[in-house]
Amino acid sequence: MPTTPPTRIARFTLTERVLHWEVVVAFAVMLATGLILYFPSLSGLMSRPAAKGVHLWAAIALGVGFTLVAVLGNRRAVLRSAREVQYLDADDMAWLKAGPAAQMGRVSPAPQGRFNAGQKLNTAMLSGGMVLMYVTGFLLWYGERHTEWRFEGSVPVHDLFTLFLVLLVTGHVYLAVIHPHTRAAMRGMVTGEVDREFAEHHHATWVAQHDAEEARR
Ligand code: HEM
Ligand code: HEM
Repeated sequence: MPTTPPTRIARFTLTERVLHWEVVVAFAVMLATGLILYFPSLSGLMSRPAAKGVHLWAAIALGVGFTLVAVLGNRRAVLRSAREVQYLDADDMAWLKAGPAAQMGRVSPAPQGRFNAGQKLNTAMLSGGMVLMYVTGFLLWYGERHTEWRFEGSVPVHDLFTLFLVLLVTGHVYLAVIHPHTRAAMRGMVTGEVDREFAEHHHATWVAQHDAEEARR
């Protein structure tokens, strides 16, 4: 008897979702406390030493929490996602050439794998930006204790990449929460599953691969 495929399709494991929301919470805390340190007008919200303490502890908590969940959770899923998001292939070139209407999901884009080129570039820029925040943040902290590690560029680079990340994350959140053609992705980051129709429209190659894997099981 032919069976109708389920209306939802699994997209993110619990491990991947916990990792993502850990980053979101820590990012929000580091941004808020960073802004308190930057703008004297916000200093009434929290004392400078307290803001600095929370800023640094959020950075440590994310480093430790991220490593623990990535290592002790579903490592295979994390490594698979990391592989899938890393390289640009022919589908991604077609996506990049397709123009804004296709990229924003208004018309059918070229068939895509699990992540499209926009998501791959977004991941590269967000991860690279976060690494730079950690490197410059560490230098700021360590430079206070060892003056030979105090560099003129650490503060401007830390500030510039704050702006870069804020702009990038604003676009990312707009697509995840507001844009009518892409906001269905939010279900995947909350419950782990997305609507099959949405997945077929945006990630047709991935859905075909997913179904073939399920059929082999
Ligand atoms: C998303 C991540 C982060 C954001 C948005 C952020 C933002 C900021 C901002 C806006 C400032 C104020 C700089 C100024 O006064 O010009 C700051 C200061 C600082 N940040 Fe970050 N930061 C982040 C991550 C980190 C990390 C990971 C570390 C440590 C490893 C760190 C360590 C510091 C230190 C030590 C200061 C100097 C505090 C002071 O004024 O004495 N930050 N951060
Ligand atoms: C409230 C804030 C945020 C919301 C609502 C949000 C939402 C989402 C959603 C729904 C996805 C899944 C997209 C898909 O189906 O592939 C996603 C993926 C992702 N998120 Fe976020 N996110 C937020 C903040 C952040 C922050 C702060 C970072 C890192 C600094 C981040 C990094 C990523 C990355 C790397 C991916 C995978 C690639 C991509 O889809 O662009 N997110 N996010």
